[in-house]
Amino acid sequence: MAVSMKSAREIELMREAGRLLSRVHEQLGAAIRPGMSTLEIDQLGEKLIRDLGCVPNFLHYSGYPASICVSVNDEVVHGIPRKDRILKEGDIVSLDAGLIYKGYHSDAARTHAVGRISPEAQQLIEVTRQSFFEGIKMAREGCHLHDISNAIDAYVSRFGYGIVRDLVGHGIGTSLHEDPQIPNFAQKRKGVRLQAGMTLAVEPMINAGGWEVDFLNDGWTVVTRDGSLSAHYENTILVTDGEPEILTL
Ligand code: MF3
Ligand code: CO
Repeated sequence: MAVSMKSAREIELMREAGRLLSRVHEQLGAAIRPGMSTLEIDQLGEKLIRDLGCVPNFLHYSGYPASICVSVNDEVVHGIPRKDRILKEGDIVSLDAGLIYKGYHSDAARTHAVGRISPEAQQLIEVTRQSFFEGIKMAREGCHLHDISNAIDAYVSRFGYGIVRDLVGHGIGTSLHEDPQIPNFAQKRKGVRLQAGMTLAVEPMINAGGWEVDFLNDGWTVVTRDGSLSAHYENTILVTDGEPEILTL
C-alpha cells in the first residue's frame, strides 16, 4: 500500500480545496429547514461548488447521480437526493460533499438537525462529531494509522453505539479515494506509520443501534439494518509533526 506524500505546493492546493468546501458546508447547513426536499439541497450544493469555480467530485463518481450525498435518519451514507424526499421537523440529515480545486480533492460530511430533534438524536450527532476529534488526536507523525481507528472505537464504544464497519475513511489528494483505508473500529495491526504531508479523510459513521448496515437496491443508499438513526462526520486533514491541520473546517 503506497500512501502519497504531498509537496508544499500540493498542500497549498489541498488547503484551498478544503477551505472552499468548508464554505459550501456552512451555507448548506444554514439552508436546512423542514419542508425542503433532499434534491433542493443537492441543487444548492452543486451551485455553491460551481460558483466557487470548482467541480463536484461526487457527481458521476462510479455513476453516482448527484453532487451531494443526502442521508436522512436511518440512512447512513450515499443517500440519493430526490424531489419527493421532504425533510421534516425532528429528522437528522447527513450531508456529504466534496469538490475539486485545481486538480485537488476535498471531502467532508456533517449531520444536521432538522428543526427540533430528540435528545437521543442530538447526542448521537455530538458523539459522532467528537469521535472524529478523538481519532485525529492520533493523526500525527510517528503514530500509526490504526491509532486513529482505535481512538474512535474507544470513545464511541462508551456510549454503546454501533460503528459502521463496511465503509471507512481514506487518503485523498489528486483522487477522491487514495490509500490508506481508515477504519473507524479497533484494529489488531498497527497500520502504516503516519508521516507529515499525508492528507486523509477521516469519517466516522455511527449508528444509535447495531453496526450492521444494508445496501439498498438503488445501488447506493446505505441504511442501518435495525432502522436506528445514523450520523456521519468527516473532514479532510493534513498530518504534520504536531497537531493535524483540519483543512475543511
Ligand atoms: N464522501 C464519500 C466518501 O468519503 C464519497 C461519496 S461516493 C459518491 O467516500 F459516489 F457518492 F460520491
Ligand atoms: Co470520504
